[in-house]
Amino acid sequence: MSVCKYATAGCVITISIMLLRKFSRAYRVYKRAMTIAGKEMLNKTVIITGANCGIGKATALELAKRHARVILACRDKEKANSAISDIRRITSSGEVVFRHLDLESFRSIRDFCCEVIENETKLDILINNAAVMNHPYKKTEDNLEIHMSVNHFGNFLLTNLLLDLLKKSSAGRIIFVSSALHKYGKVNMEDFQGQQKKPYANSKLANVYFARELAHRLKGTGVAVHTLHPGMVNTELSRYSYAPVLNIIVNPLKYLLLSSAEEGSQGIVHLAMANLQSDTGKYYGRTGEEEEWPEISSDRAIWKKMWEISEKLTNLQ
Ligand SMILES: NC(=O)c1ccc[n+]([C@@H]2O[C@H](COP(=O)([O-])OP(=O)(O)OC[C@H]3O[C@@H](n4cnc5c(N)ncnc54)[C@H](OP(=O)(O)O)[C@@H]3O)[C@@H](O)[C@H]2O)c1
Repeated sequence: MSVCKYATAGCVITISIMLLRKFSRAYRVYKRAMTIAGKEMLNKTVIITGANCGIGKATALELAKRHARVILACRDKEKANSAISDIRRITSSGEVVFRHLDLESFRSIRDFCCEVIENETKLDILINNAAVMNHPYKKTEDNLEIHMSVNHFGNFLLTNLLLDLLKKSSAGRIIFVSSALHKYGKVNMEDFQGQQKKPYANSKLANVYFARELAHRLKGTGVAVHTLHPGMVNTELSRYSYAPVLNIIVNPLKYLLLSSAEEGSQGIVHLAMANLQSDTGKYYGRTGEEEEWPEISSDRAIWKKMWEISEKLTNLQ
């Protein structure tokens, strides 16, 4: 009987601590959001990749509320339209449109960029958000391992093809939604096709090399590059990580332990709106506060090598 009492008390205390942490996280996000309260994004065009769910969708909602024109760059039209309906149920501000983009196909990326360049006069913000994690091993139609293809090479090609349009903005910005896990990655520059250990971390590290080299190359052009890790967020990113039947147990824990997608989007919204144009090439945390770059990406020779390989593999030239 007393064992039962202790167990119950233990559960109550643990859940209370989790809830307190959750509220304190929400409060920190709220305080940060106050620093950009009242700012608007009228006449700003933003592309968000992978905006049909999770952090991308939450970011799209926040920017639409502030009157931006938001292009949801997604691979699934139905999911994108359902996200647009959800956003429209909450706000009628801004413009929210869908354009098809499948980051695992260079052909699709090129088609997307042609359409955007034909239809938009300028691009103010590109948010490289889409990613896959723990995807079963697969090679894409471009003969690349899926994580490397979507999380790095796709971003590389897309961003480079949209650079001229970003330069037409008075304050172009590129935001990379990275992951703190990139510091556990290792990029094998000789093999982007084979099955890897930690493919997500490796691809996120490759993407960090790209973001840092890009910031360097864009100095003086008026286009800023910001990289952020959003913390641990309750989204669909773990969809390939465990059997769906475990959701009954995992979902409540995710709810208690992780930030919500809305909280996870606040750092990105901050980087999109704050006065950071002259700050470029920096690394930010979940609410958009600046952090030190992890040591792993400190060698510029590696950024350059990654760039050259990416240029070759995506046929950029
Ligand atoms: N959640 C976290 O704890 C966490 C932590 C650190 C970093 N991040 C980063 O945050 C970003 C957003 O992730 P999330 O947590 O919001 O995950 P999510 O809910 O799974 O969203 C990922 C988005 O990427 C899209 N996507 C995947 N493959 C694509 C492709 N080939 N072409 C176009 N879009 C594609 C997905 O579209 P479909 O729905 O069609 O698959 C979805 O819209 C990612 O860059 C992730 O690495 C997340």
